[in-house]
Amino acid sequence: MVLARFAWLAGLIGTAIAATPAEWRSQSIYFMLTDRFARTDGSTTAACDTDARKYCGGTWQGIIDQLDYIQGMGFTAIWITPVTGQLTEETKYGEAYHGYWQQDIEALDSNYGTADDLKALAAALHKRDMYLMVDVVANHLGYAGAGADVDYSKFNPFNDAKYFHSYCPITDYDDDTMAQNCWLGDNTVSLPDLDTESEEVQKIWYDWVGKLVTDYSIDGLRVDTVKHVQKDFWSGYNKAAGVYCVGEVLDGDVDYTCPYQEVMDGVLNYPIYYPLLDAFQSTTGSMAGLYDMITTVQKSCKDSTLLGNFVENHDNPRFASVTDDVALAKNAAVFSIMADGIPIVYAGQEQHFSGGADPANREAMWLSGFKTDSELYKLIAKANGARNQAIAKGDNFTTYQNAPIYKDDSTIAMRKGGDGSQAITVLTNLGTGGKEYSLSIPDTGFKAGDKLTEVISCANVTVAESGEVPVPMADGEPRILLPTDLLTGSTLCVK
Ligand SMILES: *[C@@H]1O[C@H](CO)[C@@H](O)[C@H](O)[C@H]1NC(C)=O
Ligand SMILES: *[C@@H]1O[C@H](CO)[C@@H](O)[C@H](O)[C@H]1NC(C)=O
Repeated sequence: MVLARFAWLAGLIGTAIAATPAEWRSQSIYFMLTDRFARTDGSTTAACDTDARKYCGGTWQGIIDQLDYIQGMGFTAIWITPVTGQLTEETKYGEAYHGYWQQDIEALDSNYGTADDLKALAAALHKRDMYLMVDVVANHLGYAGAGADVDYSKFNPFNDAKYFHSYCPITDYDDDTMAQNCWLGDNTVSLPDLDTESEEVQKIWYDWVGKLVTDYSIDGLRVDTVKHVQKDFWSGYNKAAGVYCVGEVLDGDVDYTCPYQEVMDGVLNYPIYYPLLDAFQSTTGSMAGLYDMITTVQKSCKDSTLLGNFVENHDNPRFASVTDDVALAKNAAVFSIMADGIPIVYAGQEQHFSGGADPANREAMWLSGFKTDSELYKLIAKANGARNQAIAKGDNFTTYQNAPIYKDDSTIAMRKGGDGSQAITVLTNLGTGGKEYSLSIPDTGFKAGDKLTEVISCANVTVAESGEVPVPMADGEPRILLPTDLLTGSTLCVK
């Protein structure tokens, strides 16, 4: 962290510094659809009908104006949706407001602002010692029309059929060869599938991604539809990008998803996502499934500490679309922040947004009024605060593999961080109104008499003679315990 801070001083005087996987380990990411986060006019009332699937007016300048709101929750990075020039028609599936229907990869989507605005966003982040992650798509372009019936002259630079796989629709998503070589999309919006085996296409993409990163001082990339491109394309792409890349492999099977970490720095942690929802989306969920998956991911993935952890995103129904219990939402959020990997929170999660499947889960954030006193805003600020403190003051927090140390029917406890500075996280799915009781957690690595502070309730506890840590539970709230000494210098539990 210290090195990173000096690096950003250099950044201020004009040198872009690309961020490595090691530097990303200690970040915490806030993710937003640029179109749906904040507008240049600062409106908190401008209508946005998610069903209409049209541009609603969010901009890069709007994000700049809300960085206090984001940083106030302890985030150190943002991930924004793709920035490239999109198809401009209104299709039966609406407009390209999400950014996944690009046509001109040399242009920016002018709905979000100018090149200077995007550079200003990077500069504003770097001035705060924060990172910029940009979403990129290499698998396909977008075209308003039926399947194979594409006018390639609309594309830049891929303006010829020769750059694409010949047309075939994907009919079996479990067939890898088909998923890689045939086309996503349908007869309303076609997603022409680039021939990523061709050396010409590879050269265009590798040159492009390196230049994009340099031109806009980007610190990391989120890579779309990774499983729809053959694996060996990605090592070259990640290398050419020169920054940390985290890929979307939308599959909960560890044996399928983890191997992608051989060709990309990290992947989104879908293997944990499903058991995480399972554990916390009801008061009868399975703690055992989540407990076991923590170690399964560590064994199956090359490096669990470089995965991207999340509870929500724009492709899946919001947590609160299944249960409105805010205590359950808190526990799931704390897991994603305190477990192995890089936390990712999707804009609106902190306001307990409840949109279901796409497009309902793409609500305009400005309609929340950017309130900083919501339950989940405050909770996320505490959890990120605890993690940031453990990283800054503790030993090996980010590289220490999260150890599940206790479970019962409604509780899971885990330890992360080197001896003496470890964080103990205790989560429950008893939900709001859950009983008041005290747990005794073994195997925490703490010694009898050690003084700890629980940062959600600000209770102090002393480790028992037996070495077990007494944890006061109440109202279904999550718990994060750190050595009291380690909180010195933070704003956690300071009156
Ligand atoms: C931190 O990690 C280093 C390198 O793996 C190790 O030598 C050291 O003992 C660890 N420190 C603690 C407190 O666990
Ligand atoms: C917890 O301990 C710290 C450090 O000794 C102290 O400053 C704080 O007031 C204590 N909190 C409570 C709630 O007793």
